[in-house]
Amino acid sequence: MSVGQKDVDEQHKELIRIANGLINAVSIGRGKRTIQNVVQKLREYTVFHFSNEEGMMEQMRFPERGQHAAEHLRLKLLVKNYQRKLYKNENVNAEEVLDFMKDWLLGHILTFDRGFATYIVAFNEAEKAKEFDAPEVVDDVDGSSSDLSEDE
Ligand SMILES: [Fe+2]
Ligand SMILES: [Fe+2]
Repeated sequence: MSVGQKDVDEQHKELIRIANGLINAVSIGRGKRTIQNVVQKLREYTVFHFSNEEGMMEQMRFPERGQHAAEHLRLKLLVKNYQRKLYKNENVNAEEVLDFMKDWLLGHILTFDRGFATYIVAFNEAEKAKEFDAPEVVDDVDGSSSDLSEDE
């Protein structure tokens, strides 16, 4: 389950914890209001986590960040629609929630986030190598592309 980046791993754990809480709440037949609160929490944490991940992708210049962010957007809409469905529907089926979580959350972490994780490892190694080879250019790491001419 680990993607090899501490903050991201912690956030995934928290997301899974909230998702499990939702599955439990539904399976033990908690009231509609409790379930709606957990879904709201899940939605809020999802927005936080996705934007955090997208910030990292931007910072690391992850080449597939556009596709990944588009997938995040799709998932945000899915959870929003799911929330709407829960608000309308009195009878929420635990199995249905579990299936949704598997597809929606685990599916994304195991495919898209894993792809990013592979990139993080390579990125960190390249950064380490840079520090080792040329410590004098470390200050230029966050320079914009317009600084390129100055580097030559
Ligand atoms: Fe992601
Ligand atoms: Fe993620």
